[in-house]
Amino acid sequence: VESKTVGLDVHSRRPPTTEGGFPFVGRQAELVTLEGHLEAATRGRGGVVLISGEPGIGKTRLALELARRAQSEGWQVLYGRASAVEAAPSYLPIIEALGGFVDACSSEALRIYLGHAAADVALLLPTIRDRISDIEQGTTGVAESMRFRLLASVSEFLLSIAAASKSGLLLVQEDLHWADASTLLLLGLLASKLSGARLILLGTLRSAEVDLSPPLTDLLADLSRASMGEHVGLPPLTPADVSTLVVSLHGAPVPHEVIDGLYAETEGNPFFLTSILNQLLRTGCNLGDVRAVRMRKAIPQDLRWVVRQRISRLSPATHDLLRAGAVLGDDFDFDVLAEMLGTRDDLTIAALEEALAADTLRPEGTGYRFTHALIRETLYDGLSHPRRQRLHFAAASAIERINSGTIDSHLAEIAVHYRLAGSQADQSKVVDYSLRAGEAAAALFAWEEVAAHWEAALESMVAQWTDPEVRAGHLERLAKVMFILGWDYYPRQIAYLERALEAYRQTSDFQATTRLHVDLAAAYFRINASTVNQRRSMCHFKAAEALLSAHPDEKLANLRYQNLAAAYTWTAQTAEGLAACQRALSLDAQLAPEDRFGEPRAMGWHLASAGKLAEGAAALERACEIDRERSGIDSYFSYAFRSNLAFWLGDPRDSYEWMRRGLASSELSPQRRAAILCMMAAARAEAGDLDEACRLQAETGWQGLDHLAVLFPAPLIAFRTGDWERARTLWTDARERHRRTGTRWCEADFACWLAQVCRVQGDIDAAKTMLNEALAIGLEAPSELIEMWTRPELAMLCAQERRLAEAEQHLRRCRAIMAAGEQWRGLAGRVALAEALTASSGADWEVGELQFNRALSIFQRWTLPWSEAEALSAWGSALVAAGRRRLAVDKFSAARDIYHRHKVGEPWVKHVEALQH
Ligand SMILES: Nc1ncnc2c1ncn2[C@@H]1O[C@H](COP(=O)(O)OP(=O)(O)O)[C@@H](O)[C@H]1O
Ligand SMILES: [Mg+2]
Repeated sequence: VESKTVGLDVHSRRPPTTEGGFPFVGRQAELVTLEGHLEAATRGRGGVVLISGEPGIGKTRLALELARRAQSEGWQVLYGRASAVEAAPSYLPIIEALGGFVDACSSEALRIYLGHAAADVALLLPTIRDRISDIEQGTTGVAESMRFRLLASVSEFLLSIAAASKSGLLLVQEDLHWADASTLLLLGLLASKLSGARLILLGTLRSAEVDLSPPLTDLLADLSRASMGEHVGLPPLTPADVSTLVVSLHGAPVPHEVIDGLYAETEGNPFFLTSILNQLLRTGCNLGDVRAVRMRKAIPQDLRWVVRQRISRLSPATHDLLRAGAVLGDDFDFDVLAEMLGTRDDLTIAALEEALAADTLRPEGTGYRFTHALIRETLYDGLSHPRRQRLHFAAASAIERINSGTIDSHLAEIAVHYRLAGSQADQSKVVDYSLRAGEAAAALFAWEEVAAHWEAALESMVAQWTDPEVRAGHLERLAKVMFILGWDYYPRQIAYLERALEAYRQTSDFQATTRLHVDLAAAYFRINASTVNQRRSMCHFKAAEALLSAHPDEKLANLRYQNLAAAYTWTAQTAEGLAACQRALSLDAQLAPEDRFGEPRAMGWHLASAGKLAEGAAALERACEIDRERSGIDSYFSYAFRSNLAFWLGDPRDSYEWMRRGLASSELSPQRRAAILCMMAAARAEAGDLDEACRLQAETGWQGLDHLAVLFPAPLIAFRTGDWERARTLWTDARERHRRTGTRWCEADFACWLAQVCRVQGDIDAAKTMLNEALAIGLEAPSELIEMWTRPELAMLCAQERRLAEAEQHLRRCRAIMAAGEQWRGLAGRVALAEALTASSGADWEVGELQFNRALSIFQRWTLPWSEAEALSAWGSALVAAGRRRLAVDKFSAARDIYHRHKVGEPWVKHVEALQH
């Protein structure tokens, strides 16, 4: 990637160049706001400011004006822009901003600024390697977390520049509506670290852009959720501003008819206005003469019309030059342009000079840039389809020829130009450049760009009937990229895997076919996407098994068992799961060390499910350690499993703690971070801290079931705060979905929660049905953990209906399970509560009291205030039944106290009152 010179010279402390020479007018209120942010930032309260408005409204000019002022007050200003051009390099705005800084910095200073971030930042700015000799290798690998490590390193670099600057750092990032996903992710990450920094991130974006890219939408949503960042919408200039501008140009008063006319026609859009004024002045019109102004001016229609007017006055050669330039991009090299036009004679040079004189281009660095993006857009959009293709072809060939020595830094450009050249281009070149451009993007973890290049390559391969084996390999790589990109891309991942499988079938490559079946099986069992389908997953495991029995392969067999063991966690097949773990382990032992999986995550889960809690937890903790060392894909996953185990055992504090460790274990994508925050929110809600739970949930921005997080906090929070209807709807929906997809574990889990809400709503039959269905899943697994979720609850319902024999049956089983000596944490309290209710129902007050006390102390020990309140009201009811009303009052009021203390809604308090009377 080449760093580009920018229009704003940040080191010579010259004020930024402002084209056209029009004086700056108006914008006083906006400048006050912006300077207020600078002021706050000098005191360590950095932040984000976004300037938005239609094209030509003056976003860039305002940003430059602020930059000029900041610079004169000792601010470090870094300036970068996104580009509308499809072939623009990933991270362009950041690279632009940092490129000039790095070049101007001494090696010693650079080393200090970069610290341990040097290797990562050098991936974006390779010149750093020439400046600092002994940097280690940068991050490599194909994991999602790698990108976030890179982004974190770049953020650190920016923060240390800010910390070292005299007043602070103003980072200008222009035209974010065109920015690539990686840049936007970086800015989002940076934004989250600004609260103590002397750094202002000033972004500009077009508000008229109808469909914002999803990453930009995400960034804006994140900023507004964190109530971070001020949004400055730019209105048109006022008539007074227009007047000031015109008068200062004319150097003398101007009749108000002239001003009114100009204002009405341009609606105060400064680009519009300055274009018309330029034309008038160029033709020697006297702005003071109303009649002359009227005569010279056609009635303008819109912005693009003005641009077309401007261009139409130019000679045909200049017009041709500009059209070629517009295909090259916002800026270009004259050499490449001349090569594209096939000539660099006097005529071409004269054409360039005319374009410069007409203020359509301006020199920048070693090349030229359109003075405004609107000019390029109008030129480009005005090209007929075949002409556009021809020019793209010419551009690709020209860049290829001119840069033959440094082709590696032009791969994306050439690939995109060849692609846009349509039938003109040699398809094998399209494939070749697209593949290489994708690889270059992958080295920077710019996965969205990788996907774009490789998907284009695929299309060309298909069109050319490329060898099925080559195509299949490519499809497999594309599938991996989709996996890295996250849950929203899983449908595409599966589609590519299916196509790859189809292609391999034509090749009789059994190994590849087997591998594809296993990959598909794994893709279908992942529950965080709309694609989850356990039955299909099992079909692919079966197909792989059949192939393996005909063509044995130990590595693939191991891969299959590993994945199968993981799949069984979701389908709640504990016995099969443990068997698969054993097979995987013994195969592992036979393989060379580097081929081993040694992955105890599924094993830990299955052991815990089977009731071997300590052993299971230990295996999960080992899995966390391995994850941390490998810091690969899904590195938080083992933490999530360990956290869930604690949650399911009724130990929300431990659950929270493990999730917190997961959060700190590696750099995470916003999506995975959100998943972790969801689990933390659920744990806080169970531990009684509803405010914190709501805050954490709000931070994720997820309300409903978007991604089917295992513990999704919305219904839990609704339930605990007293919005039972909402909790019921959400849990019903969740259970239905998991049931449909065959994700039996989650089906059982949500059935148990649903039973809780049914019970407080007085719908005892529904509660029983739910619990019996969950228990059936537990018995089939077989899973002692699921039995321990369901049996105490069923026993309580039976006790309530005085079906004591049935209650006793459930309790007997619970006692047997607990006799093995495992630590059942909060679940032991549920058993004690069930014992208490059963004993009281049978009028055995003594045992009842003993067990109520036990339950209460267990709930207190594990911080389970909701269970505590439930136990107190149940005790109250038992005392009422025993005729000991005076004692009952105490229990009820203690329960009410708990609800009041945790600020839960009316329904819970009413619930206690209903029990009392
Ligand atoms: N406040 C202003 N005073 C004078 N000229 C302005 C002002 N705002 C914008 N302009 C001029 O109008 C043209 C378009 O402004 P620009 O900042 O490039 O718009 P945007 O970035 O919103 O597309 C530029 O030539 C710029 O110099
Ligand atoms: Mg602009």
